[in-house]
Amino acid sequence: MADKKIIAVVGATGAQGGGLVRAILADRNGEFRVRALTRNPDSDKARALAAAGAELVRADLDDQASLERAFADAHGAFCLTNFWEHFSAEKEKAQAKNVAEAAKAAGVQHVVWSTLEDTRKWMKADDTRMPMLQGSYRVPHFDAKAEADAFFAGVPTTFLHTTFYWDNLYMFGLAPKKGEDGKYAWAFPLGNAKMAGIAVEDIGKCALGIFKAGNQYVGKTVGIMGEAISVEDMGKELTKQLGIGPVTYNAVDANTYRSWGFPGADEMGNMFQVYRDFEGPFLASRSVDTAKALNPAMQNFSQWLAANKAKVPV
Ligand SMILES: NC(=O)c1ccc[n+]([C@@H]2O[C@H](COP(=O)([O-])OP(=O)(O)OC[C@H]3O[C@@H](n4cnc5c(N)ncnc54)[C@H](OP(=O)(O)O)[C@@H]3O)[C@@H](O)[C@H]2O)c1
Repeated sequence: MADKKIIAVVGATGAQGGGLVRAILADRNGEFRVRALTRNPDSDKARALAAAGAELVRADLDDQASLERAFADAHGAFCLTNFWEHFSAEKEKAQAKNVAEAAKAAGVQHVVWSTLEDTRKWMKADDTRMPMLQGSYRVPHFDAKAEADAFFAGVPTTFLHTTFYWDNLYMFGLAPKKGEDGKYAWAFPLGNAKMAGIAVEDIGKCALGIFKAGNQYVGKTVGIMGEAISVEDMGKELTKQLGIGPVTYNAVDANTYRSWGFPGADEMGNMFQVYRDFEGPFLASRSVDTAKALNPAMQNFSQWLAANKAKVPV
């Protein structure tokens, strides 16, 4: 155990990082052991990780010194920021700068940075199809992460482009809703586009594959997905596996979606519109084959649903 190389995991108690913690713990004969970073080692989630064999270290993305201490002696670090906790692009960038600086100071040999692309590369500044948000962003939680990539200069880093988790159906309340007529429906501004999706647990497994590959992916951007699937086809699969009758898909206009006003409606409206309007380049920058090479157990939507249907609130 002591001779195993340490992977420090930011977001260990969460969805992406938790997947990596579980993947390292399951890889009993592997070369790595896991250090789980959390603001609260006394939380139930943190205690569960410790009980499963992870080392727990207190660290806060807002406190660079705490990150530096948590990265000490680590070979690798999986780094993420959580936009949805504060909804601020500027804060997300500041937190990413803290992890990057801490990794640099601690001499971490391999960072996997969970990032996303800059959606502004697909739209001219005067493009009016969607509003600018928080000043200068189209999709703040994408664009801010992409801007933050620059903070990792000088750190051996793999830039991991993730995508929409199917787990959002229960994590973000995005499952179809039952109407008063007893029929199920859902609405997205996605038209007929296929959306790149992934089981969040598979992101961590892919990250482990990247660490195991040594230097192969250092300095590279790796785009992963489990399957590109339309909302219509997701609905058919839900109907089949959950026995809920046909799911009506309302392909609403993006402006309509943004106008619904729930927290993050404009952000998500812009995001789904990007998935729709830039379907070609978005899918081209993510590969099921690459993901399978990193994680042979990659799931498609049907397999993910079979394993997670009890969690989907219908
Ligand atoms: N939902 C999607 O489809 C999707 C797709 C692609 C990318 N993403 C991105 O994924 C990110 C969220 O990751 P997730 O889904 O794994 O999150 P999550 O399940 O909500 O968990 C958040 C994790 O972040 C940690 N964390 C938050 N603030 C922290 C801080 N100040 N210091 C230290 N740790 C902190 C939490 O740790 P403690 O509470 O234990 O400290 C927790 O482990 C977002 O930035 C989002 O943009 C989401």
